[in-house]
Amino acid sequence: TTPFSFAQALVSWQRTHGRHDLPWQNTTDAYRIWLSEVMLQQTQVVTVMDYYAKFLARFPDVQSLARAEHDDVMSLWTGLGYYSRARNLHACAKAVVADFGGEFPRTPEQLITLKGIGASTAAAIAVFAYGYPAAILDGNVKRIIARVHGIRTPASAATDKIMWQHANELLVTANDAKKLKLTHAAALRAYTQGLMDLGASLCARRKPQCDICPMQTNCYARIHHLTDDIPPAKVR
Ligand code: ADE
Repeated sequence: TTPFSFAQALVSWQRTHGRHDLPWQNTTDAYRIWLSEVMLQQTQVVTVMDYYAKFLARFPDVQSLARAEHDDVMSLWTGLGYYSRARNLHACAKAVVADFGGEFPRTPEQLITLKGIGASTAAAIAVFAYGYPAAILDGNVKRIIARVHGIRTPASAATDKIMWQHANELLVTANDAKKLKLTHAAALRAYTQGLMDLGASLCARRKPQCDICPMQTNCYARIHHLTDDIPPAKVR
């Protein structure tokens, strides 16, 4: 028997049970993907939908955003909150036009040099726009990794370092893709979306649905009945 593969199980689950019709899916336009990822950094999918459509109607590409009046950018962001995101967004668009010829760079290393793009957002853009292999690590992914691997240390820089190691080790490989009869790029997209979908549904913070989870037989927290204790509650 072949050993359990987290990546292969996640990709298979995403393709049958994941989300496929979000407005920023089914495009490889880095501008559209970047805009969605920045909006989704601190805002729920349902809220982002409306703002995303209106923003794209007004600024359909990075050039139009780069030459916009700053007040027009800010007013399209009104209600979304975390307004430094809108300031960084405008600065980033100007930098992409001025320094990268209007094309978003393809690697996370280059993407993180742009304002408002951290390591996880850079990886999401690289995967969804370019099919480039890179691991994401947002709050939902940290919860999944903590449960699967039984990580019970409180949130800290040291815990994050361990989380990034696991995120990189779990990432779907070219060999996984071959087993799944997918291109590596397609497998990377499904895998990354799968982490987001699993974290937003079955592997919720409270009352996770382990009985229908593809990871149930290989999840430390599930096996040890510790899903209420992992990840640990924040100390204050
Ligand atoms: N949260 C962050 N990025 C997302 C995406 N691409 N789809 C759904 N939720 C997300």
